[in-house]
Amino acid sequence: MKTIVITGATSGIGLEAARLLVRQGFNVLGVGRNIERCRQAEESIRSENPGASITYFAADLMHQREVVRIGSEIRTFLDEKCDGELHALINNAGCVRSWYMTTEEGYEQQFALNHLAGFLLTHLLLPALQKAHGRVIMTGSESHKGIRMHWDDLMLRRRYNPLTAYKQSKLCNILFAKCLNDRYGSSGIRAYVVDPGLVKTDIGNKETGGLVSLIWSLRKRHGVPPSVPAETYSFLCRQEPAPDGLYYHLCKEKDYSKEVTSENARWLFEISERLCGIENFMEVAE
Ligand SMILES: NC(=O)c1ccc[n+]([C@@H]2O[C@H](COP(=O)([O-])OP(=O)(O)OC[C@H]3O[C@@H](n4cnc5c(N)ncnc54)[C@H](OP(=O)(O)O)[C@@H]3O)[C@@H](O)[C@H]2O)c1
Repeated sequence: MKTIVITGATSGIGLEAARLLVRQGFNVLGVGRNIERCRQAEESIRSENPGASITYFAADLMHQREVVRIGSEIRTFLDEKCDGELHALINNAGCVRSWYMTTEEGYEQQFALNHLAGFLLTHLLLPALQKAHGRVIMTGSESHKGIRMHWDDLMLRRRYNPLTAYKQSKLCNILFAKCLNDRYGSSGIRAYVVDPGLVKTDIGNKETGGLVSLIWSLRKRHGVPPSVPAETYSFLCRQEPAPDGLYYHLCKEKDYSKEVTSENARWLFEISERLCGIENFMEVAE
């Protein structure tokens, strides 16, 4: 049975992707931010599929010590129960913010959760992914277009605009996926970004101000249910051989921003290594 890790698997797109992949016979390891939400999600999946192969891990991925802790727990689980192999890692957990807010490390929260958490978790699970010639899938967004990286002020400390910070974090997702393919494609790892489209979830209603929450409540009415993008994750996990593209929407390849160059991808990768205290992405400290 192939194993898939999904972050942000307690609501919205991640929960529906977990539900679908479990139904399709994968062994799913979901990550959620607290134990109670994980318990509810697991119960909901098991209520439809009593034999489901689903296990939840709780961690607040906003903070790097928590990513490191859960990465180590998942690695132990994979070694003990899955022959040390991971077929796919879906870096999906994400947030929207209305104000400049920082993590324990002092990083802007959208940058930290939407990009750095997935970067660090991928590093920690790389040996298991390499063993299975696995896939890394990021949840990106069409909003990555029409924006460039603010290299001189990545956290936008000087002039914070929450929407710019969100869009930039989604550009990071696709730059990271590109760099993974450039560096590790030849060793069998493939990375992808899914554009889920506009999806009816509560992302804009969590820890945001009244105005952002109101705008999102109106906007999400036009969104599709999360079961729609879930199909694209399933497509990318099931397709054999692994597809060649980078950016996918509704199970089809799609054009991405011209900012997605190998040079920008390499630059972001090197900065992210420094921000996560990683000396060599290939070598995971015990
Ligand atoms: N909805 C859209 O239209 C849309 C469009 C483009 C891209 N996206 C992307 O889709 C992804 C999923 O978002 P969604 O729309 O499905 O929203 P969602 O329902 O709010 O799902 C976000 C997931 O991330 C988890 N999460 C939030 N903060 C976390 C933290 N600090 N540590 C660990 N997990 C955390 C949430 O946990 P809780 O259940 O506890 O809140 C939830 O499971 C995000 O990356 C988002 O940027 C969404």
